[in-house]
Amino acid sequence: GKYRVVSTKSMPGTRWINLLIEQDCRLEICTEKKTILSVEDIIALIGDKCDGVIGQLTEDWGETLFAALSKAGGKAFSNMAVGYNNVDVNAANKYGVAVGNTPGVLTETTAELAASLSLAAARRIVEADGFMRAGLYDGWLPHLFVGNLLKGQTVGVIGAGRIGSAYARMMVEGFKMNLIYFDLYQSTRLEKFVTAYGQFLKANGEQPVTWKRASSMSEVLQEADVVNSFTYSIVFIISLHPVLDKTTYHLINKESLATMKKEAILINCSRGPVVDEVALVEHLKQNPMFRVGLDVFEDEPYMKPGLGEMKNAIVVPHIASASKWTREGMATLAALNVLGKIKGYPVWHDPNRVDPFLNENAPPPA
Ligand code: GLV
Ligand code: GLV
Repeated sequence: GKYRVVSTKSMPGTRWINLLIEQDCRLEICTEKKTILSVEDIIALIGDKCDGVIGQLTEDWGETLFAALSKAGGKAFSNMAVGYNNVDVNAANKYGVAVGNTPGVLTETTAELAASLSLAAARRIVEADGFMRAGLYDGWLPHLFVGNLLKGQTVGVIGAGRIGSAYARMMVEGFKMNLIYFDLYQSTRLEKFVTAYGQFLKANGEQPVTWKRASSMSEVLQEADVVNSFTYSIVFIISLHPVLDKTTYHLINKESLATMKKEAILINCSRGPVVDEVALVEHLKQNPMFRVGLDVFEDEPYMKPGLGEMKNAIVVPHIASASKWTREGMATLAALNVLGKIKGYPVWHDPNRVDPFLNENAPPPA
């Protein structure tokens, strides 16, 4: 192999490995047992010569690492993730390192997890499962684990990008929910979909579903106060602008939580700091019928004190993209990102633009 490529973690599947090896790359996969590598660990991995690195969202790809990679002759870095809040793209730019991410292949998988959390929260599945296992079930009761009906309620989506739109479609079509969404960009496809589905339901003598594009993020939350009988499930996926930036940091805080319906369901499958987790724990304590499904945490991998004890919280360890097909696809895309830059493929049209290619049309892993 002419080029030395480092992967900071072992990744699912073999296609990504073969792609690199077949195209002049010598691949080194880090075998370090600890989950999160430090900047020093990665500097050691980069060594004196390294053409490209495939890294993970748990790593801090800032000035120090891009300087080290550039010094070792590296030109390419790919995050094995669609989110890249762990990557300082300006620093990469400064050191002439191209940055890639892995969009497209995780859209449906992530939306399916968000839908799973929504249903699990609405129907109190985790709580009920714990009840069974604890041997507490001693017969059917009219009040036992009564939850929320989704049909006819309104699902709120903040950030109607690929994932947000896929989730919205699932909830609207699967459960006949109305939609309110916020995004800087209008999602015409999504609006057309809901309109057409509404017409279909109407033609069949059913209550049609409706959509509304909110003019602000807080409007999505505030509407819940106005339209009292609606449940709001908020999925924080901001896709066309940075996933986690100043506009979304602590978007959900004490004040915004107070504007939500008392029985609302909140889902977060984007990044932890979007939610003020301390305020959330307090809100969950004060409002036992408010429920939350979290895939991400403010101090990942830790939870804020008290969260783990809340019965009205469902918590899973950042697994939204964890289907076999998707994880193999992410690994393949990450390898193609690095390979594309090293080999100068035309697909890599802008070396420092994240999210430049393959996208929705990414091929499924072989
Ligand atoms: C996972 O969180 C990702 O951004 O892909
Ligand atoms: C997130 O970046 C998305 O693909 O919606």
